[in-house]
Amino acid sequence: MSPQTPYVSRRTASFGENVFTTYTRLAQQHGAVNLGQGFPDFPPPEFALEALREAASGYQQYAPLPGMPALLEAVAAKMSARLGRDLEPAQNVQVTVGATEALFAAMQAFIDPGDEVVVLEPFYDAYPADIIMAGGVPKFVALEPQGDEWVLDFDALEEAFTDRTKAIIVNTPHNPTGKVFSEAELDRIVALADRYDALIVSDEVYEHIAFTPHVSIAGRPGAWERTLSVSSIGKTFSVTGWKVGWTVGPERLITPLRMAHQWIPFVVATPLQVAAARVLQEVETNGYYAELEGLFRRKRDLLLAQLRGTPFRAPAPQGGYFVIADSSALGYEDDIALCNALPERAGVVGIPPSALYSGAHKHLAKHLVRFAFCKSDEAILEAGERLKKLS
Ligand SMILES: Cc1ncc(COP(=O)(O)O)c(C=O)c1O
Repeated sequence: MSPQTPYVSRRTASFGENVFTTYTRLAQQHGAVNLGQGFPDFPPPEFALEALREAASGYQQYAPLPGMPALLEAVAAKMSARLGRDLEPAQNVQVTVGATEALFAAMQAFIDPGDEVVVLEPFYDAYPADIIMAGGVPKFVALEPQGDEWVLDFDALEEAFTDRTKAIIVNTPHNPTGKVFSEAELDRIVALADRYDALIVSDEVYEHIAFTPHVSIAGRPGAWERTLSVSSIGKTFSVTGWKVGWTVGPERLITPLRMAHQWIPFVVATPLQVAAARVLQEVETNGYYAELEGLFRRKRDLLLAQLRGTPFRAPAPQGGYFVIADSSALGYEDDIALCNALPERAGVVGIPPSALYSGAHKHLAKHLVRFAFCKSDEAILEAGERLKKLS
């Protein structure tokens, strides 16, 4: 969309088509193996499908504003156990249309024009858009690849905080780097947020796809009163199309978020909430989370093993379902040139991570490419065989 397009608001005039749509189309055009967009190409667990079938025959009318009681209770129980506090379903939980709407509603509820929000790069691409749509100003701090790790430079983070800072968005496990933040790192973030009296928005959609223990920042000392913890059903149960999410926090933060949510979708699809509640109840006893972690660990290792025979160099991610690989050996001018050429040259699609950096920092992604491993073993093996031919 060009800025000259008639009627378009100044706020949204700079928004282009998102990178996932672009590269999914390229994959289709070239019949390429699509390791681009982060959604599973395999079916969800049978108990999730059964829960959806059961819920589909009832529950046809609007849900209550906070969410269906069974889902509020299931989320409150899960997060009470994790955070070691007694959460009240209707006061401490809000159901949203995926994590996506939770993030949007959080920015609408708390950000005034000119407020600054600290965002780590590479970022999930909704964050800057959500901040801008609320009239806020994103302040970017780049994570740095050092050896096999992505490191947060706390001096740079401290510099990004000012007296206009209203919030920081933290994503752990992190998309796209796969970084899982340690307790010590989370504590330093809490200390900074405390010093500047900033809100912490914690995006934890990959909470159950962690190969090193995932910690919720809201459970760290001093964090609860200033933290909104966002997650959803999509990644954990391979049902990204359900778009059922939630936010957990103190009542003083949940109530304003709920007031914004009320004028965004009003409420979330009732049968899907009922199915999500059922799914969360079942995993209390069926051992699914451990199975899920095992499944994705195996897929991660399969992709890494395949990449070893190619020109790409990739460290093992600690969580999430993406690998960030270095493509320097292939000699492309930048990540976009590489990702545009890969479908035709190799029959594989990856995402150029520069789309996940702010303008000033896009060069940091020059030799990087993101591959998703939330794909069938056949797709991962086939992509690997095709990429090996590039050598
Ligand atoms: C970091 C992160 N946050 C949020 C979302 C969106 O989650 P949902 O599908 O629940 O809206 C995604 C989806 O890719 C994501 O990777």
